[in-house]
Amino acid sequence: MERIPEPELMKKKEQVISYDEADFSEGEVNLINQINHYLLKRNIFLSEKDLIVDLGCGPGNISEKLAVKWPNTEVVGIDGSKEMILRAERNKEISTNKKQFKNLRYICSDIKDIKLTNSFLNKKISLLVSNSLIHHITHLDDFFNTIRSLSCNITINFHKDLIRPLDEKSALELKAQCATKYNEILTNDFYASLRASYTLRELKDFILKNDLPSLDVFEDSDKYLIVYGNV
Ligand SMILES: C[S@@+](CC[C@H](N)C(=O)[O-])C[C@H]1O[C@@H](n2cnc3c(N)ncnc32)[C@H](O)[C@@H]1O
Repeated sequence: MERIPEPELMKKKEQVISYDEADFSEGEVNLINQINHYLLKRNIFLSEKDLIVDLGCGPGNISEKLAVKWPNTEVVGIDGSKEMILRAERNKEISTNKKQFKNLRYICSDIKDIKLTNSFLNKKISLLVSNSLIHHITHLDDFFNTIRSLSCNITINFHKDLIRPLDEKSALELKAQCATKYNEILTNDFYASLRASYTLRELKDFILKNDLPSLDVFEDSDKYLIVYGNV
């Protein structure tokens, strides 16, 4: 199936509310466990000197879980949509245990415009994460240039996203499954995301052509892919 890009930023209020109100917690917990597994494999134990950055953080679902899992680190969530960042700030504010998010901050910025001089990013990034972001990015160059510019020798990259289905029929089947759990706005967004996603081959080819030998791309079930390693 040919790739059909979708708008990068999720700006519409109803879209943001639908996304925020949906329960994706099972996949999110799984993601945190996966990151933990890869860090432990490398004998990495994150502490107060470490900075975690969550790109395309949306309403903060993953950023919050990172902040709780690694409470001594500093966690920064970044999103280019003001509506999403407002939602993320609100979620942090209304949390029953605000204290657990004292290490969590948000920045509203397009990932293409993040400046390392930003005072929020006052340390080297130890862990650079994204979930469901890559498919939003129109040109893969923009995603990889960003992670290249934010990473240093200690940065572990872990980016998870959807895999584009083989054909329209498979995409429609996944859309129908989504409709049994989520509302129409979210279902339509999910379908647009599936069509905008990249294939494993496209990402592998990009990494090969752009001399990123320490970065690996692999399937995580038949629905997701993971970009993992150093740049
Ligand atoms: C599908 S949501 C995922 C949110 C979050 N990572 C999660 O897993 O719940 C994708 C997010 O990426 C943001 N995004 C897309 N393109 C972006 C860009 N170029 N710069 C910053 N944020 C971007 C969107 O605004 C949206 O909030």
